[in-house]
Amino acid sequence: MLDSHVHVVPNFPEPGVLFRDITPLLADGPAFAALVDALAERYRGKIDAVAGLESRGFILAAPLAHALGVGMVTIRKAGRLPGDVIGVDYTLEYGTARLELRPETVTAGHRVLIIDDVLATGGTARAAIELIESAGAEVAALTMLLELEELGGRSRLTDYPLDSILRY
Ligand code: PRP
Ligand code: HPA
Repeated sequence: MLDSHVHVVPNFPEPGVLFRDITPLLADGPAFAALVDALAERYRGKIDAVAGLESRGFILAAPLAHALGVGMVTIRKAGRLPGDVIGVDYTLEYGTARLELRPETVTAGHRVLIIDDVLATGGTARAAIELIESAGAEVAALTMLLELEELGGRSRLTDYPLDSILRY
């Protein structure tokens, strides 16, 4: 059911790329609600916080944290968080990037669920794991709305429970 709301867009953002667009799913009230409800059912009672990855991960993390009655930790791209931050550089398909976290937003020992919209090469997820663990919490699981299997991200995350809703 959710799958029909993910649109395939050829040649975006550049020629040769087959882009899976989740915006129609988010725009459909019953589909979005079904997604958040299913995630909440899966993780209720098992986690203490939800960490969302900027920017599309935030769209999923906030309603899930609310549904579970736990806090949301924001992991952001470089230079956007004020105060004391820790950061991790990671490799993208082309070039590098940096994710940051305010450690004071993480409670030591908490079981944290990391959530994002897409798992591609896994570099973003690995950087997020490093940040949560550096802040003293435990990565209880990762969950991704879409897993792009041919990019091999799962093989970089074998030491953590990893759920994906839709696999391509
Ligand atoms: C996309 C996606 C994931 C990441 C996955 O983020 O939202 O965070 O790539 O790629 P990886 O597994 O190869 O690391 P993007 O940087 O496009 O950010 P956005 O959510 O702000 O659009
Ligand atoms: N869809 C959405 N985000 C992405 C994709 C995709 O196919 N590939 C890399 N990031």
